[in-house]
Amino acid sequence: MSLEERARREKALAREAKAVDACRKCAIGYTRTNAAFGEGDPCARLMLIGEGPGETEDKLGRPFVGKAGELLDRMINAIALAREEVYIANTVKCRPTFDDGSRLRNRAPTPDEMRNCRPYLDEQIEIIRPEIILCLGSPAAKSFLGDKFSITKQRGIWFEGPKGIPLIATFHPAYILRMTGGKEMTEVKKLVWADLKKVRARLDEPPPPAKTEIVQEALF
Ligand code: URA
Repeated sequence: MSLEERARREKALAREAKAVDACRKCAIGYTRTNAAFGEGDPCARLMLIGEGPGETEDKLGRPFVGKAGELLDRMINAIALAREEVYIANTVKCRPTFDDGSRLRNRAPTPDEMRNCRPYLDEQIEIIRPEIILCLGSPAAKSFLGDKFSITKQRGIWFEGPKGIPLIATFHPAYILRMTGGKEMTEVKKLVWADLKKVRARLDEPPPPAKTEIVQEALF
């Protein structure tokens, strides 16, 4: 990728991040500390999409930097990639919370919040044009594949994602961390590992031959 193209993408993403910073379409736009827009290589071949920022992400304005993020980093490293080589985003950029009377707690984003935030995610996909999208958890996968998507039955299967980009889903790292009992966690990790290996294998496939246009009749 040329330096000019990289610079163009960086600029486009920075413009989008600024729009997210100014966005107050949802109530969580007022309760957030920082929006976690997304981060990584603007020329990444792989884009990972989670649900929404949690407490640590809200504090730091970066996606996946809490406990789930630490596990996600290890998942990325397991397929011979560095965090800096991929692009990480979320379906919503502001931390969805509810007040339990003493403090703000995390909750799942509402359909309205996901809808409001979708143009920013679409724009990130449009700018980066990754070769593969990996959805982390059911809400992210459902946001592309519809409400009927079942993470337990359909994770690890390739789908056609936005703009025709191959998309696959696996369990969310926070779900893995919630597993109690070593055996249960090991079982889920095995499934996630199988999904990650599919991503690696697809990244390793040779690129399709470039279409050569015949511009002139053959001379023999
Ligand atoms: N969980 C998510 O889905 N996204 C984050 O950024 C952090 C935790």
